[in-house]
Amino acid sequence: MASFANPFTGVVPRKMTREELIQAIRLDIAGELEAIFIYDAHVQATDDPVAKKVIADIRDEEKAHVGELMSLLRHLDPEEAEHFAEGEDEVREMLEQLNIVEKKSPSGKFESTIGSLIGK
Ligand SMILES: [Fe+2]
Repeated sequence: MASFANPFTGVVPRKMTREELIQAIRLDIAGELEAIFIYDAHVQATDDPVAKKVIADIRDEEKAHVGELMSLLRHLDPEEAEHFAEGEDEVREMLEQLNIVEKKSPSGKFESTIGSLIGK
């Protein structure tokens, strides 16, 4: 989280190598996930409707940042992207075994539905 005590924390003395950039992106993703966790905890911890709405909106923006950084990581490291795809495929297979069908909506979002029970 925030480390303002050291003003030189964010200073990088040289351009990063590709491998260092990939590591930096992973760290950035971790930071976004931590922010989501903290904002969500604050949403859950207050009954103030305005604070809930504003903080939840910020939390959701952080989720979009995770998506942006994951896309960047896939671009920078296609081999890692293959591992992500393997994991996604494994879960998709498990969903199929549970007869849960994932459909992509027109907006590109995945929606899960229970398979047809007609005829059962
Ligand atoms: Fe963010």
